Amino acid sequence: MTGVLRAPAPVGGARILGVGAYRPSRVVDNHELAPAIDSSDEWIRRRSGIATRRFAAPDETLVEMAAAASLKALAHAGVPPESVDAVILATMSHLEQSPPAAPRLAHRIGAAGAGAVDVGAACAGFCHALALADGLVRSGHGRHVVVVGAERMSDIVDPTDRGTAFLFGDGAGAVVVGPADTPGIGPVVWGADGSASAAIAHSSPWTVLRRSGRPSDALPAPAAWPTLRMDGPAVFRWAVATVPQIGRRALAAAGVDAAELSAFIPHQANVRIVEAAAKSLGLPAHVAVARDVTDAGNTSAASVPLAMDRLLSEGAVEPGGLALLVGFGAGLSYAGQVVVLP
Ligand code: UT7
Repeated sequence: MTGVLRAPAPVGGARILGVGAYRPSRVVDNHELAPAIDSSDEWIRRRSGIATRRFAAPDETLVEMAAAASLKALAHAGVPPESVDAVILATMSHLEQSPPAAPRLAHRIGAAGAGAVDVGAACAGFCHALALADGLVRSGHGRHVVVVGAERMSDIVDPTDRGTAFLFGDGAGAVVVGPADTPGIGPVVWGADGSASAAIAHSSPWTVLRRSGRPSDALPAPAAWPTLRMDGPAVFRWAVATVPQIGRRALAAAGVDAAELSAFIPHQANVRIVEAAAKSLGLPAHVAVARDVTDAGNTSAASVPLAMDRLLSEGAVEPGGLALLVGFGAGLSYAGQVVVLP
């Protein structure tokens, strides 16, 4: 016998109703980091465009930063926390295998009845989570979804690693997705290439750390805390080639011309990648290009909502304008979509 299940009634569309950000208070400049990696302020600015980044204090935990950003996004959206149906938290720096961070975040913001899940897609995590939220709202499974990118990259980066120590920063950005009469979040273009997974990866798996403590396991030396490693030049080449492709496909999928955009908000990995992608996409001069990386560093899953919040709060773009988002990073993974700004 075939059962027939009741499904929720779909709605016309979903859109971003509000955005919020949390930036840790401590500003770290290049001069502070350079000695440990035999580098200089001049080299870091020239190769990455980064002048400063923020590092979280012990009490600026991942959940606290995510909560601060989420509460601002909810206030901006005019949605009370108790009306939230789901909380989706994108992160690569939550250092507990279990429990995930999202249930604590939901509790912390007062979203008592919400489903809560973490999403792991590294620097592409926010755009993946946004696509999931869009699907939930449009299909009628939930009315209001909080989507957060939150990172404490300073916990997983080795301050003596020349290839990553100067790149990453901490922070959190959040949006609230809710129902709309027409689509406000375009079709997602996403994908992954696991054959290149070693390009951005931890120096060793956690199991190495565990085994090194056992006398029966003859490991050569005590394993160090596994930190992030990256083949920077290879990832750079991949990003410069891939981001414009994803951008063009996301524009085509949404039926939007580049000239109709108000903003281009790619993941903030390196200002040279941002500039190269903007040029390759042939964006007209009126399109605001996010360059939050210059004083936030690469905040991984938090970078797109942080940059979105900044463009709106500084008045560089108007609510209701169209923005092209593109996330990319470890996996290798990517996701992009066109959205109507809140
Ligand atoms: O968020 C996830 C996605 N991540 C990204 O998209 C990051 C992509 N990669 C990058 O942004 C860049 O590769 C970096 C900013 C990480 C590095 O810039 P680069 O222009 O690719 O530098 P490089 O690694 O090719 O090194 C160039 C030179 C080398 O010296 P020689 O061989 O030319 O003499 C390095 O030894 O710079 C040297 N170098 C440094 N010098 C000072 C490498 N790291 C440093 C350093 N300070 N920290």
